[in-house]
Amino acid sequence: MSTDIQRYISVSEKIKTDDLDWAEAREAGLSEEERFVITYFSDIESQTIRYLRMLLQMKIAFRPAVAAFLTTWSYEEFFHGHVLAQLMAECGHPLEENRVETVTRRARFNEWMEKLFGPLLSRIFSSQFPAVYMSFGAIQEMTTLRGYERLKENTQNPVLKTLCERIARQERRHFAWYFNNAREQLESTSGARWLARKLLEFNWVPVGAGVKTRAEVNRLFSILFPGETGSRLVREVDAKIGTLPGLEGIRLMEPYFEESF
Ligand SMILES: [Fe+2]
Ligand SMILES: [Fe+2]
Repeated sequence: MSTDIQRYISVSEKIKTDDLDWAEAREAGLSEEERFVITYFSDIESQTIRYLRMLLQMKIAFRPAVAAFLTTWSYEEFFHGHVLAQLMAECGHPLEENRVETVTRRARFNEWMEKLFGPLLSRIFSSQFPAVYMSFGAIQEMTTLRGYERLKENTQNPVLKTLCERIARQERRHFAWYFNNAREQLESTSGARWLARKLLEFNWVPVGAGVKTRAEVNRLFSILFPGETGSRLVREVDAKIGTLPGLEGIRLMEPYFEESF
């Protein structure tokens, strides 16, 4: 296995919580907006296993380095959702017990991806499809990362701050892995570049849009990225994804959120 993945595995861990002072978290409390954002994040983190199911349809998922990443990545994502739910409960706003099932039932976009793209397209385009998944992964990880960074900057709750910082550190590594692998896959064939661009342009939606309504997606965006921070974010993400082979000049975030600012 490459040294990159060896390094990733060696630092992979569940989010540390044993040194957190939950009494301090309770005392600081969570604003209504924070509760909305944390619930949103926790919901989408808990959907990772569904995305993993799609990723496992790729032949390359069973290459030792890719398998190692996917295993540790989904483990880490699970704990992101888990600790956020724990914070909500500690602060007196527990999420419903059957929350994950309820959210899963609303997973319209994933459902569609799983039923249509998974079995059919990924078989037809088996050698091009990893590029699609990796590119989707890169953009989703990057926006998630920026979301946690903003939440950390804005919150008055010291425990939430610490959690966001720890989660963001892992999201940064997730992004790096998806981005580097997307580049590698996109470089490999022109078919992969063509397919990734088409499917991103046709089908991309922001993190959580599969299980959240458009109004909820917009609300999250406007809480975390109001005004100028929003337009800066969409330009930054589009520009970064546009550095990938075949995705030059692609605009995904900007058209989607245009009406939000
Ligand atoms: Fe995460
Ligand atoms: Fe992540």
